[in-house]
Amino acid sequence: MEDLLRREIIRLKEVRKAVILAHNYQIDEIQDIADFTGDSLELARRAADLADSLEAVVFCGVYFMAETAAILNPSKKIVIPDETAGCPLSDMITADDLRKLKEKYPSSPVVCYVNSSAQIKALSDVCCTSSNAERVVKYAASSARSPVIFVPDRNLGDWVRRRTGIDMIIWDGFCPTHDRVLPDEILSARAAHPSAKVLAHPECRAAALDIADEVASTSGMLKIAAASSATEFIIATESGLVWRLKKENPSKRFYSASPKLICPNMKKNDLHKLHRALESLEPEVRVPEDIRARAHAAIKKMLSIDGSGK
Ligand code: 13P
Repeated sequence: MEDLLRREIIRLKEVRKAVILAHNYQIDEIQDIADFTGDSLELARRAADLADSLEAVVFCGVYFMAETAAILNPSKKIVIPDETAGCPLSDMITADDLRKLKEKYPSSPVVCYVNSSAQIKALSDVCCTSSNAERVVKYAASSARSPVIFVPDRNLGDWVRRRTGIDMIIWDGFCPTHDRVLPDEILSARAAHPSAKVLAHPECRAAALDIADEVASTSGMLKIAAASSATEFIIATESGLVWRLKKENPSKRFYSASPKLICPNMKKNDLHKLHRALESLEPEVRVPEDIRARAHAAIKKMLSIDGSGK
């Protein structure tokens, strides 16, 4: 049955001239069938650079990620298998909140984490992801004398501030999945696996990051695990990545830092919904053109700082 479904997805993908992009947190079955799986930055780059022959993208991730693809490539149809797959972090700041903050600090540049709505991106000078936040904030700080406004993730913002010493005004948003990882959980995982290296995502709290061996984005963790001589790792990010780490490093062992590391929104997409999305090319993700154009400028700025002008 599942095999039949997989074959139908592959057949429909050809018929629709579609590509399937998936985030590292998607369920195994989706990662397996996707044309490309990656972190937020890699997916943004892919979405900016689609072949002319493609007509549609089925984006398996949460809504803001599919929206980012729609911002970057308005000529393609961008579809998400489950449009209720939201991101509570991105919902923690509204356009009005950001307008008020900008009025309070009129000469401050605004850096928005990619986990934000198109409206927030449209009001920002430059976007960033977890893998380039430090570089982007340094760039923003170098172009202004005022503190840098950073929205909406307080943990990522605080991590960048502590690494760079840059004066920042940081919004108080957080990812409910990463924010609740307790240092004690990491410490007991380490006690159980004393030779394991701890890799933590910068959306975790400072107390958790401070006891990690490395802080990295999801794709950063994949690179570290592949290159390291260590054979055991404790992973403080959403559990979907553990599956990919195991698949790409079969001789190494990976343990999730906490059973709480499951994002319910990332888990909403499944093969049945992916099949339906390919069949109907719905639900489509659309962004009004005035917002899209301004949000595009913020993402394009990030890609140019990060070495890809697209
Ligand atoms: P990445 O930048 O590693 O893709 O992280 C995205 C994210 O939403 C983390 O919760």
